[in-house]
Amino acid sequence: MKKLSQLIESVPGSPTTLMMQKGRELAAAGHDVINLAGGEPDFDTPGHIVEAAFKAIQAGDTHYPPSFGTPALLEAIVAKLKRENNVHHITPAQVLVTPGGKWAIYVTLAVTLNPGDEVLVLDPSWVSYAPMVQLNRGVPVRVPLPSSDNFTIGEDLLRRYISPRSKLIMVNSPNNPTGRVLTRSEIDAIVKVSVEHDLYVMTDEIYEHILFDGAQHMSLAAEPDMAKRTIIVNGFSKAYAMTGWRLAWLAGPAPVMKLARTYQTQSITSAASFTMAAGVAALNGPQDRVHEMTAAYAQRRRFMLDALEEIPGIECPPIEGAFYIFPKFTATNKGSLEIANILLEKALISTTPGIAFGEAGEGHVRFSIATHMHDLERTAERLAQLAPTL
Ligand SMILES: Cc1ncc(COP(=O)(O)O)c(C=O)c1O
Repeated sequence: MKKLSQLIESVPGSPTTLMMQKGRELAAAGHDVINLAGGEPDFDTPGHIVEAAFKAIQAGDTHYPPSFGTPALLEAIVAKLKRENNVHHITPAQVLVTPGGKWAIYVTLAVTLNPGDEVLVLDPSWVSYAPMVQLNRGVPVRVPLPSSDNFTIGEDLLRRYISPRSKLIMVNSPNNPTGRVLTRSEIDAIVKVSVEHDLYVMTDEIYEHILFDGAQHMSLAAEPDMAKRTIIVNGFSKAYAMTGWRLAWLAGPAPVMKLARTYQTQSITSAASFTMAAGVAALNGPQDRVHEMTAAYAQRRRFMLDALEEIPGIECPPIEGAFYIFPKFTATNKGSLEIANILLEKALISTTPGIAFGEAGEGHVRFSIATHMHDLERTAERLAQLAPTL
């Protein structure tokens, strides 16, 4: 047979796959595995959102919707950007509704990159960022943020990784996996460097509502000079517990969005029609459930931070947002993949090794806290027993 796609062959598989597979095998063999490897809320989608989709289906909203999103949803997103993010320059024509945040990121890269363009990926970064750059024929340039300084983004550090081929910076705040939320000075650094080198910025704000201890989310798109270079990626998966609905969006400068619309019409056509009615209900309806879910994550975060503080050899800075903790295992020279394997084999806790998020994540392990408190209590007990043996 003729050779398959070299491009896709060149994209590495996730280093976590093997471990997740092992976790599944152990669970299938009857072992009591606690799964903290995933990245999805353990809550169900709020009732009024489900109801809106039911009603849409019953009313016959089962045909092709407008490719870019229904007018009602585009308007709701524009209003939300003004209301919550202080972003006033986006019109409905500058929004594209997508099936999931992942596709919104993929489209952003597809319409901004030419072959060989470099993309700054701030590590530790979400596992799909670098492979998606590769899939779009770009070159991921990994910027290792310092674990010793709680992964702070600095102007000089960014500059060190800029070249004449630099095209875009991928930013994610609140961050998966570190739980960091951009500070004023980090935002200033990104703005300064991107303006200086005429770069696009993708700001992935999918965890924006999940904030702790008074942390504030500020969108890069609201900064002066950033409107023409910033593409916002956001969606419903995390805040509204809607991972399975596959509903998200991107919004940005008119020329970028013009290409994004062409790309969508010639690829996946649209998100599913009736999910868009659910999206309108989510954005325009009551936000109580969002607050309740975040309050539950806050309680779990507090529990895990307090519990880990008691365990020698594990250091965990207090995360500011998203629903993961990313502790460092300080009393061992073992790599994060080996640590994660031991956690799975000896303590039956399934996690994601820090190396999956780039070299800068080495020594760390990601635990999801979007999990029932009972499981977190059992995790803390098992970790306390295992840590001294690592
Ligand atoms: C940082 C980040 N961006 C985007 C996504 C994609 O979300 P979706 O489920 O909407 O594709 C995720 C999902 O885990 C994520 O962690």
